[in-house]
Amino acid sequence: MQCRSTWILICLLCLSLVAASGQNPTKAPDAEGYPWWQHAVFYEIYPRSFADSNNDGIGDLKGIASKLDYLKDLGVDAIWISPCFPSPQVDFGYDVSDYENIDPMYGTLADFDALAADAKKHGIRIILDFVVNHTSDQHKWFLDSKSSRTSEHRDWYIWRDGKGPGKPPNNWISDFGGSAWKFDSTTNQYYYHYFAAEQPDLNWRNPAVKDAMFDVTRWWYKRGVSGFRLDAVDTLYEDPNLHDNPVLPGKNDFGDPNEENKYNDKLPEVHETLRELRKVADEYNAVLIGETWTSDIAELNQYYGHGNNELQLPMDFLFTTVNKLSPADFRKQIAAVDSASGWPTFVISNHDIVRSYDRYGDGPHNDQIAKLMAGLYLTLRGTPIMYYGEEIGMKTTPPTRKEDVKDPIGRTGWPKEKGRDGERTPMQWDASENGGFSTVAPWLPVPPSAKTHNVADESKDPDSVLSFYKNVLKVRRANRALLDGSYVALNENDQNVLSYMRAYKDQAVLVALNMSGAPQTLNFDLSKSGFTSAKSLVATGKSGANGTVVTLEPYGVFIGQLAK
Ligand code: GLC
Ligand code: CA
Repeated sequence: MQCRSTWILICLLCLSLVAASGQNPTKAPDAEGYPWWQHAVFYEIYPRSFADSNNDGIGDLKGIASKLDYLKDLGVDAIWISPCFPSPQVDFGYDVSDYENIDPMYGTLADFDALAADAKKHGIRIILDFVVNHTSDQHKWFLDSKSSRTSEHRDWYIWRDGKGPGKPPNNWISDFGGSAWKFDSTTNQYYYHYFAAEQPDLNWRNPAVKDAMFDVTRWWYKRGVSGFRLDAVDTLYEDPNLHDNPVLPGKNDFGDPNEENKYNDKLPEVHETLRELRKVADEYNAVLIGETWTSDIAELNQYYGHGNNELQLPMDFLFTTVNKLSPADFRKQIAAVDSASGWPTFVISNHDIVRSYDRYGDGPHNDQIAKLMAGLYLTLRGTPIMYYGEEIGMKTTPPTRKEDVKDPIGRTGWPKEKGRDGERTPMQWDASENGGFSTVAPWLPVPPSAKTHNVADESKDPDSVLSFYKNVLKVRRANRALLDGSYVALNENDQNVLSYMRAYKDQAVLVALNMSGAPQTLNFDLSKSGFTSAKSLVATGKSGANGTVVTLEPYGVFIGQLAK
C-alpha cells in the first residue's frame, strides 16, 4: 500500500531524530501489579487459512478449536482472530455486514461459544478484530443510509455533494486505489471510503454510531472475549470541511497521485473516542490492541494516552520498518520504543505485510535467521504478537499470475502491487497434499515449502524453527527478568551482534544475537552489575558462554541467565 511506504520513509527519518536525542532506553516498569496482557503471548490467526474442519477449502472456527492443544503447547496465551463476522468477503472479512454474528463459512455463534469455552479451559484468551473505520456496503446500516437522504441511518456514513458533474467532493485517494468517493445515483451524492468502495466509512462524529459500536464491544465482552484489535483506527475521523490533501510528487502503485493524508488520517478526535472505548474495555478487564501506523514515538505515545488511558497495546509497526539485519538499526528502534510512555508491543509479521522469514532471510540461512528473529522479539521488554506460521518458518508465496490473485488490492494494483495473498496461504500442518489444512484444494494454494516446513515434521526435530520458538517461549514464561526486566543495551558499537540484558531486581538475562554470517566472540564487561558468568537457557547450535565470553555461530542466538 503506497501511503504505507511514504509512511515508512517518514518514520525512518523521525527515528533517527529520536535516537539522536538520546532518550533513556532503560525505563523499568513497576515491580508489581502487571495486568494479564503484559505477560501474555498473542498469536494472530487469519481464520480462512488456519484449519479447515469441514473440508470446503476455507478455515473455520471448529478448525481453530481443533488446534488449541497445539497453541497451548506452543506457549500462546491469547489468539487474535481476524474478522470472522458475516461479510461479503470483498476484503476477506474486513467488510463486516453484521458485527454481532459469525459468518456461516466460519461456523455459528454456537461454534464461537464452544471455541471460547474450550479456549478458556486451555488458558487461552480470545481477541476479536473490530473493524471500526467502516462497514460493508451490505451492512443494514449502509443499505438504509443509501436508500434516501432522510433515512434514519443517512448520517451514519459520510455523504457529500460532488463539486460538479463527475467531480468528487475533494481529492482524497483510497488506500485501495482511485478516488475515495463513490457516487450513488439513488440520492445523487457521493459517499466516502478510505478503503474499497464496498467499505464505506462510518461517521464517528455521529453519537449514534459511537453508541452502536461501543455496544458491539459490550456484546462480545459478555460472550467471553478478552479484547479487540482495532482495525484501521488511524482513519476513524476526517476533516469535516473536506480540505484537499496536499499532493506529493510521483504516483503510487495504483497509478494515483501520491498524497499526504493530512486531512483524513490520525485526526486528534480519534483519541477522545479511544478513551471512551477504553472505559468500556476496563469494565471487562479487556485489552485494546491498535492497528496504529505511527510515524514516531510522539505519535505512539498519543495512542497510549495520558496516563495510559487509551490503547494498552498500540502495535509497534515501527519495528517492521527495519528491513535488514542491522544491529544498529534494531538498537535505535528498540531504544526508541522502550522509551515510550506505555508497554511496548512487538510484531514482525501480519496478514498485510511480507512475512519476516522473507524480509530478513538471505536464502541459505533462512531458518537460522527465523530463529534469530524469534530470539529477538520474544525476549524484548514488551508483548509479542506472533503471526500464524511464523513459528514454523512459513515463507511469503505470492501469486505468479494475475488471474490467481484473490486480494482486491492485488487485482487493482497488479503487477506493481501483487496484494497480500502471499502472506495469507494456508497453515502448513504436515507434508501431505494440502498441507494437512484441508482435504480439498484450499482457497489459496499451499506453498511447496509445506513439504519441508510443517508442524508435524518440525515437532519431531529438536533443531527446527518450531522447537526453537517453543523453547524460547517456555523460558520466557518462567523467567521474571524476561517478563518484567528493564532493557539494557550492551556492546552498543558492535556492528554484527545485537546484545542486551533484561534486568529485574537481582536477576538478569543476557541475550546475544549474531546478525552476521560469520562466527563471533564477544566479551561482556558486566562487572558493574556484579555478574561473572552466563548459563545458557536457550542457544542455537554451538553458541555458548564461558564466564561472560559468548561465542556465536553465524546467525547464532545465545540467551543465558547471568550469575554473580
Ligand atoms: C486493515 C487490515 C487490512 C484491511 C484494511 C481495511 O489495514 O489489517 O487487512 O484490508 O484494514 O479494513
Ligand atoms: Ca471450512
